[in-house]
Amino acid sequence: LRVLSVASECFPLVKTGGLADVAGALPAALAAEGVHLRTLLPAYPGVLAQAASATPVHGFDDLFGGPARLLAAREGDLDLLLLDAPHLYARPGGPYADQWGRDWPDNPQRFAALCWAAAAIGRGALPDWQPAVVHAHDWQAGLLPAYLHYAEGPRPGTVFTVHNLAFQGWAPASLLAELRLPPRAFDIDGVEFFGGIGALKAGLRLADRITTVSPTYAREITTPEEGQALDGLLRSRAGDLAGILNGIDEAAWNPAADPHLAAAFDAEHPAGREANRAALRARAGLPPRPEGLLLGVVSRLTGQKGMDLLLQALPALLGHGMDLVVLGAGEPALEAGFRAAAAAHPDRIAARIGYDEGLAHLIQAGCDALLVPSRFEPCGLTQLCALRYGALPVVARVGGLADTVIDANEAALAAGAATGLQFAPPSAPALEAALARLAALWADRAAWARTQANAFRAPVGWSRSAARYAALYREVARPGVGS
Ligand code: ADP
Ligand code: GLC
Repeated sequence: LRVLSVASECFPLVKTGGLADVAGALPAALAAEGVHLRTLLPAYPGVLAQAASATPVHGFDDLFGGPARLLAAREGDLDLLLLDAPHLYARPGGPYADQWGRDWPDNPQRFAALCWAAAAIGRGALPDWQPAVVHAHDWQAGLLPAYLHYAEGPRPGTVFTVHNLAFQGWAPASLLAELRLPPRAFDIDGVEFFGGIGALKAGLRLADRITTVSPTYAREITTPEEGQALDGLLRSRAGDLAGILNGIDEAAWNPAADPHLAAAFDAEHPAGREANRAALRARAGLPPRPEGLLLGVVSRLTGQKGMDLLLQALPALLGHGMDLVVLGAGEPALEAGFRAAAAAHPDRIAARIGYDEGLAHLIQAGCDALLVPSRFEPCGLTQLCALRYGALPVVARVGGLADTVIDANEAALAAGAATGLQFAPPSAPALEAALARLAALWADRAAWARTQANAFRAPVGWSRSAARYAALYREVARPGVGS
């Protein structure tokens, strides 16, 4: 079965968050299910620089304001199609914003172009490779189901996955024709959203099936509280909506063979964590303190991630004798907050503001517990990495965090099932209460060791979810298209 996966980022070529990890891991996971997944993404400069062997396979004379080409390339497990459209992508900065963090003003056109190219592939533009299904990720790929829906002739089946309902890709209605949408698409049952064009809304409305990245988030987004004004639409499509839990790439995240670590370890040899804890403290500039509980954070520094709650809880954290290493970037006020906390407590708190793949791995290997106090979390990947590395996740009981961590309550401890701590609601007092429970668990080293052993064994890979995606693809595949 051939499937075209369409995303705006894909690890290891370009990454700002978990979407890249998922887009990058799906192909290998689905190969095991007999699905050939090809991944289409924009040929940003950094991507082109890594895809030296790319060969042109298709041309567009005018793709939203300039000529464009599709390049085929291979990168490890990834079978890539890169959309090379210099007028849209050949610029410094990130995938979505310039170097000052301002969104590119032509983002509607930039990602409409990605969708238009994907729709062309879906309708047979590559003579030797037509997909039976297209799988669109997040708002950047949201117009893909729309283009296929309004086109004449046979089309592949469409799956739309929402990784974060908060990013909606809204554009003014005046762009309708420029975005090559027919007038009839401007309808409540089409792309219309609050008087404009909603790319996320279009994907949710017009794809054959919708998925999101955890069962709990799939339920949450059908409620007015968490539905971001799309809950009504999602309730009306409840029968087509499924929550399929993300996994992590167990080869890239393997504490027994991770080039970023100071020492290898695994469930059978957890003592290797000590050397990583010491290395992490040294790298973060914290003095040696073998007996202290070290907490870690690897996160975008945003309100979604509850990082303001953590700032509020720092006095309690320090009061329990815990130290903290934070790695992240995001909202300036939160970056400043963690910088100030580190300056005020240089022996106890370290803040690394920025993006650092290697340090992210060392934190997972060297911290005793990882904090994820998100207000909402579609799935979350860092708690899965933490489990695999034997760092106990301390998580807010929301979305995928609720689905992946087993709280160390009395029943779970007695049953030998606990893998971390959950708290609710996502508030500073509840986080502080969780830190108090964590301190108590740390004081009972035998219980801690059992919980850690369970964490190491928790399933965090892709096998179950890959089978579910494969089954979904087979359900929506159209007879005769792409086979
Ligand atoms: P989201 O996609 O909402 O940011 P996820 O937990 O799904 O959250 O994925 C985040 C991914 O990005 C993980 O792979 C995590 O390790 C990584 N990450 C986040 N912040 C940083 C950072 N500052 N440096 C390195 N990796 C980071
Ligand atoms: C989004 C979500 C995160 C999820 C990731 C991958 O970035 O915020 O929870 O893990 O997508 O699906």
